[in-house]
Amino acid sequence: MSLTHLHSFRTPCNCNLSKLARSVVNLTASRSTTLFTQPVARKESKPFSLSAGSLAGIICQRQLLLQQRQCQPFVRGMADQQSRQINTVEKVCAQWTKTMEEKGVREASVGVGYIVAHVLGRKTMHGISGWQELSQQQMEEVNAMCQQRLTHKPVQYILGTWDFCDIEVKVKPPVFIPRPETEGLVALAIQMVESKNLHTGRFLDFCCGSGAISLSLLHKFPQAHAVAVDISPEACGLSEENAQRLGLSDRITVVQGDLTDSAVQERLKAAAPFDLLVSNPPYVRTHEMPSMDPDIVLYEDLRAMNGGEEGVDIHTDILLQAPDLLHADSDIVLEIQSGQPKLIEDRVKAMSPRRLQFLATHLDHHHKERFCHLRTVDSQQSEQH
Ligand SMILES: C[S@@+](CC[C@H](N)C(=O)[O-])C[C@H]1O[C@@H](n2cnc3c(N)ncnc32)[C@H](O)[C@@H]1O
Repeated sequence: MSLTHLHSFRTPCNCNLSKLARSVVNLTASRSTTLFTQPVARKESKPFSLSAGSLAGIICQRQLLLQQRQCQPFVRGMADQQSRQINTVEKVCAQWTKTMEEKGVREASVGVGYIVAHVLGRKTMHGISGWQELSQQQMEEVNAMCQQRLTHKPVQYILGTWDFCDIEVKVKPPVFIPRPETEGLVALAIQMVESKNLHTGRFLDFCCGSGAISLSLLHKFPQAHAVAVDISPEACGLSEENAQRLGLSDRITVVQGDLTDSAVQERLKAAAPFDLLVSNPPYVRTHEMPSMDPDIVLYEDLRAMNGGEEGVDIHTDILLQAPDLLHADSDIVLEIQSGQPKLIEDRVKAMSPRRLQFLATHLDHHHKERFCHLRTVDSQQSEQH
């Protein structure tokens, strides 16, 4: 999101009148002779007989009047603002940003920008003038939302919806808010679908949360189907609601339960084989949990974060059952954090029989290790390993 227009905000008239007057005088003095004694194309025209000094005075006065006329709305606006307490976008953003910064709310100005833009019916501040006035009702909405933000409630939960890839998903506490990094996971999955021509394929999304990943894929591939699994009933309910909102309900099945639960595994085996497995499982190492941001700790489901001692417990559970759920030679893309690809590779090597191949680690837009790409190998090949 760009808020640059706020930083480059200018008053409509930032002229310096005395400087301007001086420059007019200088200009007049240097050009007076040729300017005012030149014959004009009118009959009986006579040269002006005003002295250069008087002419400079008149021109200067005229320029000042012109400038004053241009500045009048601005000067009037300033006076109005002071007397009527006008709430311009710039003023409201500055005041709320300051309050939030004082209270230790992170990314204060970005959050306030999203809130003000939302109240004005926009997604971002892009294209909104700092001079725009907020009505009384809009002010009340902004104030109510900013008050919520002061409690560290994530701005996404305050707004209620969030853009992810090419879709808008509803977000609701405590269901995990889709992160921008995960758009990279979807991009990788899209590449795999396209390279193998799986446009009509069946995708499996473990740990679906709000449904952001599978719904983005179904939106992109209108003939594909997906099964999405999550332990959280709130997440499953939200995935179904998002599918409904996006008109994708008839192509997704949401399964609620622990992916290590045998009943869930039986249900998935009955729906197998799938063509692609994509997942953003919890991957925060348990000892890192206490240092997480208050926005997360206070509002998001901690089961969405905790990946066990090394952060890859759920990845391991997923990989153990992947070969039974996918076609041979099917792609698996998992989101991870830096330092975890080696652990994943080691766990795959330790699996017996070896029915998975670790292919690559991909970086995110911050150049951090973020995704692992694996593939199922067919049983004949696995026997040779
Ligand atoms: C990091 S969130 C990802 C949500 C979503 N895929 C996204 O990227 O926005 C991880 C999700 O895994 C779910 N989860 C955690 N443990 C699970 C388990 N054992 N079985 C199924 N789902 C689990 C959590 O409820 C949470 O919704």
